[in-house]
Amino acid sequence: MRKAIITAGLALLATTVGLAQNAPSRDNGKVVYDKWCLPCHGAVAPAEMPFGGYGLPGTSALRIKYRGEIPAVLEDRTDLVPAFIRTVVRGGLFGMPMTRRTEISDAELDDIITYLTRNNN
Ligand code: HEC
Repeated sequence: MRKAIITAGLALLATTVGLAQNAPSRDNGKVVYDKWCLPCHGAVAPAEMPFGGYGLPGTSALRIKYRGEIPAVLEDRTDLVPAFIRTVVRGGLFGMPMTRRTEISDAELDDIITYLTRNNN
């Protein structure tokens, strides 16, 4: 009986650890996002950049595309779905370059997606 309980406990522990390792991380999503996406999709351009926020290609393109009806800053959006983010990041979209798996791994992209969809309804 005791042995069965210990075995069950170990199995539960192993499952929990396994899940924790595989679950996408929102915190790491922000780290990867800040490195790879923020330079084009940030809210404010660095001071030394000309034209202020309009100097950011992603933010300014989305400001024009949606005419202010939805936020131009990706991090403020609540309508982005995982498949759309994945398709755009892997395939690119007009002015946005594609990103290879050697730059952002599939696991890191999952982390970015978890971060960008954190406020979705
Ligand atoms: C070199 C600049 C650049 C980088 C880096 C970049 N983007 Fe973009 N992104 C753009 C531009 C420009 C657009 C607008 C494309 C268009 O005209 O529809 C865009 C569009 C998007 C869209 C589509 C939004 C919509 O509603 O149409 C998503 C999603 C997106 N980017 C996610 C990301 C993510 C996630 C990263 C980081 C992995 C990233 N982008 C990195 C420039 C960039």
